Amino acid sequence: MNVLWLCITAIVLGFSVEAQLNPTCSSNDSIVLKAFMNGMESTIDGWTSASSNCCNWVGITCDFHGKVVKLELSKKRLVGNLPDSLTTLHQLTTLNLSRNLLKGPLPISIFHFPNLQILDLSSNEFSGSFPLSVNLPSIQFLDISDNNFEGPIAPGLCINSTGIRVLKLGVNYFDGEIPPEFENCSFLEQLFLDANLVSGIIPEFLFRLPKLSQLSLQDNLLIGELRNRNPSNLVSLDVSLNGISGNLPDFFHTFPNLRDFSAHSNNLSGRIPASLSNSGTISSLILRNNSLFGSFDLNCSAMISLSTLDLADNRFLGSIPDDLSSCTMLRNMDLGGNKLTGSIPESFKRFDSLSYLCLSMCNLKNISRSLEILQHCPNLTTLVLSRSFHDEEMPSDANLRFKELKTLVISNCKLTGTIPVWLNGLTKLRILDLSWNQLGGRIPPFLGDLQSLVYIDLSNNFLHGEIPKSLTRLPSLEFHNNSLDVFLDLPIFMRRGTFGKVLRYGYGARSPPTLDLSNNFFTGPIWPEFGNLRNLHILNLRYNELSGNIPSNLVNLSCIETMDLSHNELSGQIPLSLVRLGMLSKFSVAYNNLTGFIPSGGQFSTFSASSFEGNPGLCGEFVLNCQEVEELLQTPESEEEEWMISLPIWSGFGTGFVLTVMLLLVVPTIRDTHRTDKFE
Ligand SMILES: *[C@@H]1O[C@H](CO)[C@@H](O)[C@H](O)[C@H]1NC(C)=O
Ligand SMILES: *[C@@H]1O[C@H](CO)[C@@H](O)[C@H](O)[C@H]1NC(C)=O
Ligand SMILES: *[C@@H]1O[C@H](CO)[C@@H](O)[C@H](O)[C@H]1NC(C)=O
Ligand SMILES: *[C@@H]1O[C@H](CO)[C@@H](O)[C@H](O)[C@H]1NC(C)=O
Ligand SMILES: *[C@@H]1O[C@H](CO)[C@@H](O)[C@H](O)[C@H]1NC(C)=O
Ligand SMILES: *[C@@H]1O[C@H](CO)[C@@H](O)[C@H](O)[C@H]1NC(C)=O
Ligand SMILES: *[C@@H]1O[C@H](CO)[C@@H](O)[C@H](O)[C@H]1NC(C)=O
Ligand SMILES: *[C@@H]1O[C@H](CO)[C@@H](O)[C@H](O)[C@H]1NC(C)=O
Ligand SMILES: *[C@@H]1O[C@H](CO)[C@@H](O)[C@H](O)[C@H]1NC(C)=O
Ligand SMILES: *[C@@H]1O[C@H](CO)[C@@H](O)[C@H](O)[C@H]1NC(C)=O
Ligand SMILES: *[C@@H]1O[C@H](CO)[C@@H](O)[C@H](O)[C@H]1NC(C)=O
Ligand SMILES: *[C@@H]1O[C@H](CO)[C@@H](O)[C@H](O)[C@H]1NC(C)=O
Repeated sequence: MNVLWLCITAIVLGFSVEAQLNPTCSSNDSIVLKAFMNGMESTIDGWTSASSNCCNWVGITCDFHGKVVKLELSKKRLVGNLPDSLTTLHQLTTLNLSRNLLKGPLPISIFHFPNLQILDLSSNEFSGSFPLSVNLPSIQFLDISDNNFEGPIAPGLCINSTGIRVLKLGVNYFDGEIPPEFENCSFLEQLFLDANLVSGIIPEFLFRLPKLSQLSLQDNLLIGELRNRNPSNLVSLDVSLNGISGNLPDFFHTFPNLRDFSAHSNNLSGRIPASLSNSGTISSLILRNNSLFGSFDLNCSAMISLSTLDLADNRFLGSIPDDLSSCTMLRNMDLGGNKLTGSIPESFKRFDSLSYLCLSMCNLKNISRSLEILQHCPNLTTLVLSRSFHDEEMPSDANLRFKELKTLVISNCKLTGTIPVWLNGLTKLRILDLSWNQLGGRIPPFLGDLQSLVYIDLSNNFLHGEIPKSLTRLPSLEFHNNSLDVFLDLPIFMRRGTFGKVLRYGYGARSPPTLDLSNNFFTGPIWPEFGNLRNLHILNLRYNELSGNIPSNLVNLSCIETMDLSHNELSGQIPLSLVRLGMLSKFSVAYNNLTGFIPSGGQFSTFSASSFEGNPGLCGEFVLNCQEVEELLQTPESEEEEWMISLPIWSGFGTGFVLTVMLLLVVPTIRDTHRTDKFE
């Protein structure tokens, strides 16, 4: 009995599995797919040489009857327009063509699929506007983000599509206001309108949509004040990068589930309202770059979920609150760019959760005391103190201990003294930036023992002596180690760049392996052993007093992108082998005493005269003959060094930490290359 039943089940199962795996493609669908294939300007991998049964083609799923129910061709490098005929695939439930190079307007019929549940056309080059009439009665998930759509947002989206749960329209050029008809999007759980040109005010009904948990309106042209009176189920609300003004309202009790609130880069003023500073649900609070003021008295006994607090670049006053350390979940905190005074509170010794602390651009005192306190934070991995202290002495206390620190940035503080010995205990350090201070003395050789160091910026100080050879043995600059790539665990948001390309911004950018010792008084040679640093991307030694030859071993710097040796006293020839550095895009040996021929070929064919000027004994291919060299060099070079990137990621130069990181991703940050501050 049992055996028989099993046997029948097996037959039935076997049969149905067979039928599902191998249905024969209906002739009508076959014709449509072939037309789709032939209409593409690119080939579709796995289709061209495929069998006549289209149900076996890559990305196609058929039902029992051989009707196509899923068409999934994401990331297939497809180029071309979508044909109108696609819509005769009546049984289609999933259409996923994301991340291709599809273009042109969408066929109107694509908005009239009777059974379509998932439509993902994101990250293509589609253009045109939404059709006025949309009839997708089965749709649940609609993603057309990251295209070039324009015009108003279709008001009727939820009228015929009553079951829609996820609507992603971000990173397009949609304009106009949020349509009042969205009031009826009662099944909507996620709505993304970020990075468009949406204007007007944020209608209150959006907050009240019964199922809506995630709302992103970031990077639009929204204005007016925030307002909400009735309870909202939102879990995540992002209104950053708009023109929202007025006081930050005391309305957070109407958002009993709100976990992430981001409103950075608006025109919000006022104090932190009580309903926010007592919120038990808020985990991430990002309000940087507004005009908030007062003191931020967060009630840590109430804010039991707070994990990320970013209040940078506002007008907060006074001293750093004493009781922040009792926010027991608080890991990431950026309070930089405020008018904070005083010093780091004693209570921070008990700040066990603190992992990321940025206090750049404040007006703090007593860096010795501050570091003494912070060394007690057991989980501190990132410490950024750019431009917060002024004219103090770099603490030299050999007993300082920061065992977990991976990033230390104390730049732009005009600190005197020497590079402190306590750095030798920072065995996990990856990023060290002490640039733009007034540190003197030599580089202590122990820096070369810090096994994880991948980014060293000691530029713009008064350091002298030889560059210690130990720096040429830094293991993480010799070999790439994935686990040392620096990313910070903070929210990431997207924005459109100047050329329409989508850029992702994070709070942490990957810092390319860097050695920047520029603008100091280093003497002696460039060690041949520098050639060991195969993982180095940026080598900046300009404005020093280095002498001797350029070692030919530098040809082994196979990752090098920027090499600036200008304004030294280097002599001899430029090693011809350097033309083999295939990644080299910025190169300068200007203003040395080099002689001989400028190597030609390779990347050297892309460098201009300004890379070589100021070396009277140098001549090269890009001038007709070497007698003309002198004449050429006498014409003033207007774009002198303008391209030279230095990467002051945490220098907090003029803005907070995040801005500089963002600039890093958008345009190469150009730092004043002249020794103005120090030498004039
Ligand atoms: C195939 O298409 C033709 C014409 O469009 C239509 O008449 C016919 O009913 C279709 N056949 C099936 C099986 O859908
Ligand atoms: C579309 O396909 C891509 C790649 O397989 C996948 O990451 C994405 O989640 C799919 N979209 C939907 C809505 O499932
Ligand atoms: C709803 O679908 C019907 C039938 O296709 C269409 O006539 C109407 O314009 C659609 N409504 C909206 C608001 O798109
Ligand atoms: C929402 O739906 C209701 C009922 O169908 C209708 O009366 C109302 O006009 C709709 N709201 C908007 C703004 O279209
Ligand atoms: C700060 O916000 C303003 C708008 O209020 C914006 O224009 C600016 O780009 C923002 N700055 C940064 C660094 O995000
Ligand atoms: C920001 O708000 C203040 C008043 O709170 C107003 O005076 C100012 O014009 C606003 N700035 C912008 C750029 O909207
Ligand atoms: C802080 O929060 C605790 C716990 O929710 C509450 O009892 C207390 O009254 C709050 N203090 C203030 C000043 O709001
Ligand atoms: C921080 O460090 C302490 C002690 O080293 C540890 O027990 C704790 O789990 C760490 N993490 C947090 C979030 O406090
Ligand atoms: C810094 O703080 C320590 C300890 O509180 C104190 O002894 C020292 O005098 C302070 N230094 C300055 C420059 O205020
Ligand atoms: C890479 O870095 C990690 C973390 O510092 C370290 O544990 C590991 O040994 C390194 N790997 C190599 C191959 O050096
Ligand atoms: C470059 O590296 C290779 C392999 O380690 C080595 O054999 C060679 O001598 C190096 N070349 C120079 C010029 O240092
Ligand atoms: C440049 O090098 C030549 C020898 O090649 C030497 O005579 C001259 O003094 C050097 N000039 C400077 C400024 O060092």
